[in-house]
Amino acid sequence: MRKSIFDLLERKGKQPVSMLTAYDYHTACTIDEAGIDMILVGDSLGNVMLGYENTLAVTVDDMIHHGAAVCRGAKQAFVVIDMPFMSYQVSVEDAVRNAGRIVKETNCQAVKLEGGVEYADRIKAIVQAGIPVVAHIGLTPQSVNAMGGYKVQGKSLEQAKKLLADAKAVEEAGAFAITLECVPAELAKLVTSQTKALTIGIGAGNGCDGQVLVYQDMLGYNNGFIPKFVKKYADLHSVMLEAFKQYKQECEERTFPAAGHTYAISEEVMQALFE
Ligand code: KIV
Ligand code: NA
Repeated sequence: MRKSIFDLLERKGKQPVSMLTAYDYHTACTIDEAGIDMILVGDSLGNVMLGYENTLAVTVDDMIHHGAAVCRGAKQAFVVIDMPFMSYQVSVEDAVRNAGRIVKETNCQAVKLEGGVEYADRIKAIVQAGIPVVAHIGLTPQSVNAMGGYKVQGKSLEQAKKLLADAKAVEEAGAFAITLECVPAELAKLVTSQTKALTIGIGAGNGCDGQVLVYQDMLGYNNGFIPKFVKKYADLHSVMLEAFKQYKQECEERTFPAAGHTYAISEEVMQALFE
């Protein structure tokens, strides 16, 4: 059975929780098997799965298509699905309707949306509908054009105060967890101590209640730009590249398939074909 919000909230102040993104069945199965507590079907799928420059083009249908596959693979991990750009910004009604669609059509346990004070009314309404919400504050990639790029958030006094106000607003609206992206570690620690919600950091230091990373980044599968906060736990790009090159060579040399990968037919039948 999958973990519940209560299993996760119990961990606050005790044992940090682990979270990774996934966008497909097979990866979800492996992450689940490793015992990772939470899986996020992030709208980062726009970047890492679909090849977009940012997350803005991702649709609710994209999230449902990938999210349902992940949910089929998650046996013990708690599954959160991102609400994509423009699925909750326009109105509270839109937000509830789209959150509901995501839950109904995927079997996930919670949705995540970007924004603090300005989106507290959306969070409150979705929670009221019985859907747990993870808030996402600090660096919010759906606002990339307004932020003028991907930058650390909360370094100035003004920004730090805004972050604390955002955390307070989303907690009061009923978010059970808060993603803190690209926030100075000391500030993330302060937020964590001031809220009953579970803080899950990405680029926010080790003082949060949990950590999340994009799986392609931490596996070294993504061979492109990697932010400073990512630790590479493997070099999957090299492993895959070597395997693909070896396969290409063996196809060209006819050393693949070998006898062991091949089906035989009796000589009798072959002979009879020529009679
Ligand atoms: O979309 C995503 O992968 C995310 C994480 C980076 C938190 O929102
Ligand atoms: Na996201």
